[in-house]
Amino acid sequence: MKIGFIGLGIMGKPMSKNLLKAGYKLVVYDIVQEAVKEVVAAGAEAGASPKDVASKTDIVITMLPNSPHVKTVILGKDGVIEGVQKGKIVVDMSSIAPAVSQEVGKALAEKGVEFLDAPVSGGEPKAIDGTLAIMVGGKEEVFNKVKDILLKMGSSAVLCGDIGAGNVTKLANQVIVALNIAAMSEAYVLATKAGVDPAKVFDAIKGGLAGSTVLNAKSPMVLEGNYKPGFRIELHIKDLQNALDTAHDIGVPVPLTSVVMEIFQALKVEGKAKEDHCGIIQFYEKLAGVKVRKKGV
Ligand SMILES: NC(=O)c1ccc[n+]([C@@H]2O[C@H](COP(=O)([O-])OP(=O)(O)OC[C@H]3O[C@@H](n4cnc5c(N)ncnc54)[C@H](O)[C@@H]3O)[C@@H](O)[C@H]2O)c1
Repeated sequence: MKIGFIGLGIMGKPMSKNLLKAGYKLVVYDIVQEAVKEVVAAGAEAGASPKDVASKTDIVITMLPNSPHVKTVILGKDGVIEGVQKGKIVVDMSSIAPAVSQEVGKALAEKGVEFLDAPVSGGEPKAIDGTLAIMVGGKEEVFNKVKDILLKMGSSAVLCGDIGAGNVTKLANQVIVALNIAAMSEAYVLATKAGVDPAKVFDAIKGGLAGSTVLNAKSPMVLEGNYKPGFRIELHIKDLQNALDTAHDIGVPVPLTSVVMEIFQALKVEGKAKEDHCGIIQFYEKLAGVKVRKKGV
């Protein structure tokens, strides 16, 4: 079984390396040569284009920033669709608009190629550990064929419905994560200005109802003023835009998502779009005139 992997960024690099570690043969491609070199050094073969990767492999995985990149790589000139053969499978693990997953799936189906949308949650640390949460849309028989491969990159892979359902689930995930980080930030700024050490607040509440994976992952970062990505603000803006568009298209008001989107936009104006999404706290720090730090930082 030969796997193609296209998109070797923060997530794609460790995910592809985990497939190599599991013993799969990989043909990889990215427009950034440094990224390709690194994964080739770990044992992969370099492809010349998405078309070339698809013509040499049984399953093609893509891990790209957003909908336009996925359309270019899969449906564009020298794209996967030009090299992939009937009966093969394409799995897009990027977080994109569900409507675009459906469009890509339809175009591939016309060539007799199967498609799954399979975005992930967990960020770079879980991509490195191979413990991502994977949410999938597509046919059950196709999902069953690739499940073992997905579980080399994640600790769970759940089929959520037809093509597009994976990305609808991911949008729900991104709304919950964004609102959680904003709530955490608001609370830590409140505690800090009230004179309570935010590190003590984290210690005291993490085992209670307010405890969460978001709180555990992001508290140590904000308490040190560390906004190194991780998950960039610009990518979360992309996800919330997809969430707002999808929600409004089907008649779902999402008031809290809109507020957090505007906070992200304010941070982008300040030049912070490439920082980790836990950088939201800087918006609250500025409003209240305090810095949230554990003692000694
Ligand atoms: N970083 C995270 O914590 C995280 C967590 C969960 C999901 N995601 C999602 O995973 C996807 C990838 O995220 P990332 O953080 O790895 O992004 P990234 O920007 O680090 O990586 C994307 C890669 O795609 C490559 N690329 C772009 N256009 C290309 C093209 N036309 N052909 C070939 N390669 C191309 C880029 O060069 C880059 O290496 C996004 O949809 C993101 O929302 C990211």
